[in-house]
Amino acid sequence: MGVMNNIVAQNSDYLFMIESACKAPSGHNTQPWLFKIGASEIDIYPDFSKELPIVDPSHRELFVSLGCATENLCIAAHEKGYHTEVKVIENSFIRVLLTGGKEKLPDSLLFPQIAVRQTNKRVYNGEAIPESTINILKMVPIEPSVSIHFYRNGTVDYERIAGWVYAGNRLQMNDEAFKTELTDWMRYNKKQQDNTRDGLSYATFGAPNIPLFMAKFIMSKLINEKTQNKGDQKKIASASHLVLFTTKDNTVEQWVALGRTLERMLLCTTQVGIANAYLNQPNEESGIAKEMAKQLQIPTEYPTVLIRLGYGKRMPYSLRRDYRSCILSEE
Ligand SMILES: Cc1cc2nc3c(=O)[nH]c(=O)nc-3n(C[C@H](O)[C@H](O)[C@H](O)COP(=O)(O)O)c2cc1C
Repeated sequence: MGVMNNIVAQNSDYLFMIESACKAPSGHNTQPWLFKIGASEIDIYPDFSKELPIVDPSHRELFVSLGCATENLCIAAHEKGYHTEVKVIENSFIRVLLTGGKEKLPDSLLFPQIAVRQTNKRVYNGEAIPESTINILKMVPIEPSVSIHFYRNGTVDYERIAGWVYAGNRLQMNDEAFKTELTDWMRYNKKQQDNTRDGLSYATFGAPNIPLFMAKFIMSKLINEKTQNKGDQKKIASASHLVLFTTKDNTVEQWVALGRTLERMLLCTTQVGIANAYLNQPNEESGIAKEMAKQLQIPTEYPTVLIRLGYGKRMPYSLRRDYRSCILSEE
């Protein structure tokens, strides 16, 4: 009976970890993860049925998203008293080894932020983040082979990066395949969002809940280079900092490491009341990314994720699928 109770208790801990992992951000909110529960490990697999072949043909952003989920899983494991060790196996899946589970470990400041974190796509209020707060963010532990670069609004590099975002929009918004993939993942109203519980929710863009045909018509008029650049110009002008995450060698292992570092940073910004959102266009276009790395004098690094930071009112949350639907059954 004791053993049975242990297994039940352990499984409820593992389910708690997986539920926390599923709260991670992912490109287009595809939630491209699957979990397999072992005796003393949880494996995290890519779900390629959720891939984004146009915007992410190498699956780099997919593995970054898995890295974010891994980090949440590890933080939740710590909350339950487990020690974790993360391994990327054969460039194909992530194994989180779990030991302990009985002791009370010191409280993690980041754990409570997992449920609160959100990508805030609104225009921010223009307030600058004090240097003392940026210094707190700079203390976030960084995984090997990952670098983080901060750019303050008003500097030359900040403006140059803005220019590469607009150049990325120019390429992407004139690519029909990109737009089709994007709109396939848009959830245009509450009914559609509640049915799928994934994708880019109308609510997170501040759009109203209107009938599907109307929402689709309006969106079709808004998804173009001019509107996108006008919106991004306001968002960039209203932010305080841009933060660029890079890897040394652009490998699967480093993408996962970058995702883990990114999630730590996102949870830390949440903790100190700072809003964040992505501007990943320049990284998604390899020609622009290369030029950007050269001009920013980090020519040997691979720009992978770009976010903006600032202050803004909170937005509605993106939904998640039921985490139990992401668990693979034993063979
Ligand atoms: C690797 C990665 C790349 C992303 N790229 C973009 C992007 O270019 N533009 C954007 O608006 N959001 C981007 N996102 C944010 C997702 O849209 C967001 O995480 C998802 O919709 C879930 O929402 P949440 O973060 O509020 O939970 C990205 C997220 C990840 C993890």
